[in-house]
Amino acid sequence: MTSPANQRPRRGPGRARQAAIYRAGALGRAPSIPTDAASLERRARKAMSRIAWAYIAGGAGEGRTMRHNREAFEQWRIVPRMLHGVTEHDISTSIVGAPMSSPLLLAPIGAASVVTPDSDVIIARGAAAAGTPYVISSQGCNPMEETAAAMGSTPFWYQLYWSTDEALVDSMISRAESCGAGALVITLDTTILGWRPQDLNLGSLPFARGHGIAQYTSDPRFTKIIHNRTEAATDRPKTRLSLGAVRTLVSMSKQHPGPLGKNLRSAEPRAAVEAFLEVYSNPGLSWDHIATLRHRTSLPIVLKGILHPDDARKAIELGVDAIIVSNHGGRQVDNAIASLDAMITIREAVGPQPTILLDSGIRSGTDVLIGLALGANACLLGRPYIYGLALDGEDGVRQVIENIVAELDVTMGLLGVRTVQDLSRDLLTPVL
Ligand code: FNR
Repeated sequence: MTSPANQRPRRGPGRARQAAIYRAGALGRAPSIPTDAASLERRARKAMSRIAWAYIAGGAGEGRTMRHNREAFEQWRIVPRMLHGVTEHDISTSIVGAPMSSPLLLAPIGAASVVTPDSDVIIARGAAAAGTPYVISSQGCNPMEETAAAMGSTPFWYQLYWSTDEALVDSMISRAESCGAGALVITLDTTILGWRPQDLNLGSLPFARGHGIAQYTSDPRFTKIIHNRTEAATDRPKTRLSLGAVRTLVSMSKQHPGPLGKNLRSAEPRAAVEAFLEVYSNPGLSWDHIATLRHRTSLPIVLKGILHPDDARKAIELGVDAIIVSNHGGRQVDNAIASLDAMITIREAVGPQPTILLDSGIRSGTDVLIGLALGANACLLGRPYIYGLALDGEDGVRQVIENIVAELDVTMGLLGVRTVQDLSRDLLTPVL
């Protein structure tokens, strides 16, 4: 028998990250990215414009859903066990058939070019550097093919907002398949935009300035839709432009593919924005649409935005491969149920088999651990990686991911949990 004194613990990503930070600290260098969520958010706010902050950090109505998302985690406490003697643990897992280095993916976040141009390619590079899958958004700021290329060999998924134009839905699905997406995520909760006072109070809708429509302007079907509109618009009467309108036109032209000079003289950038606003999401989306998906794609199908156990059961009956329990980070319905609370109820309703991902309110490795202990198979990280992007681009995204994964790894080591599958409710106690 090996003597306990001779067991040498493997250095996982958590201890390696701690060591790297402390080593740099000994040379007088503090990390460029804060390692806790509150400092990260505070620093990022200073680095972002008012409009970008409103769009990224803002939520629906009075922000109650965002608060509930955080408070739900406070309702559970970890009860550590001692003397477990576990020196080896492994945070890798596999979701919809794909191996993952940790149970963390980056959530789809659209219009991130309000923070920095070429946002999606930069995020993809950061995600790839951390070996973490990225769910590319329908409202992305680079064509999905470019973002996919920046992911290298790290898996990525494609998220779709179901357009009112069915040919556009097919075109986006086929592009996602061709560029190597590992799954198709359909977001269900944004058939129309939520009531978002932070944006409304500034009169700011990033899409109206041309942000977040790169998947559309790079799409052959969408290009046809724009051409039809520009032809129909040639005899539109000319109106006098205010300074604000000129700024909007310049922004649209900058975001549009092609040289800025040409775009400024063309009606196309504006037609693209107008066409996008008309077709981007289908308020009539129903289970009938979802039922068509199996015939339209060979990709695993993931439904994002499920909160009610009956919807979860229905999704599973339809044969989807996974569901993402999410309230869209509290951006759609104010005073909605916390995502974590919904996930617990849904896991109880559907049993242990179906794959459930938890999204909305994840801020730390400990949150990931609690989510998994309560029944999620993996978690999605949202706003924090955009804060990393705002502070330090690609490297900021990488560091935010690595900090969260490191905390998960270190905490699993402290608790003596060998694998993510071993995380269970036994580790937790509810706050009474
Ligand atoms: C989002 N989210 C989102 N979801 C989606 O399916 N497609 C999208 O394009 C976007 N865009 C988007 C923009 C911004 C600025 C935010 C903050 C969020 C929702 C996102 O995928 C995820 O559900 C939330 O970010 C999770 O909440 P937290 O953890 O960020 O608070």
